Amino acid sequence: MSHTDDTGSRRDFLYVATAATGAVAVGAAVWPLINQMNASADVQALASIEVDVANVERGTQITVKWRGKPVFIRRRTDEEIEAARNTPLADLRDQTAENKNKPGADASDENRTIDEAGEWLVMIGVCTHLGCIPLGDGAGDFGGWFCPCHGSHYDTAGRIRKGPAPRNLDIPVTTFLSDTVIKLG
Ligand code: FES
Repeated sequence: MSHTDDTGSRRDFLYVATAATGAVAVGAAVWPLINQMNASADVQALASIEVDVANVERGTQITVKWRGKPVFIRRRTDEEIEAARNTPLADLRDQTAENKNKPGADASDENRTIDEAGEWLVMIGVCTHLGCIPLGDGAGDFGGWFCPCHGSHYDTAGRIRKGPAPRNLDIPVTTFLSDTVIKLG
């Protein structure tokens, strides 16, 4: 490995470490919510968890920790839904939904959300490039998520649109148990 490569690797590592620290801060902010819901359980270790989303307003998201990973639960606005649904499949790098609930489905927005109206988007919050935690709340060039580690931009459906990441953000097995409770796993 050349000297230049060494420098590049160290720099990449620093970015990854910084992003990971940021992610912990985001995670810490939602722990009180988790603990309220299930104070006695070790949420991180559970195979499946139930998340109360009654207080999630449209245009906002929460991050919960599940099986050791952050999971983004976003309640999208009409504008976010429209932007995702108006995007031609041909514009997408990853043409598959990457949705455990719909194996083999194409990456159209309808195959990415857990409700037909498309309000609820639930995704593993791990960049498909090298595993950093992307920033949310309209970040990046496509109004969705942005991974600052190496510059991957995801759209309002969490689909990769620009940068080095090869795949859309993964969607875990997710079901609505009621109007306000989502089960992961
Ligand atoms: S980890 Fe490299 S762009 Fe996200």
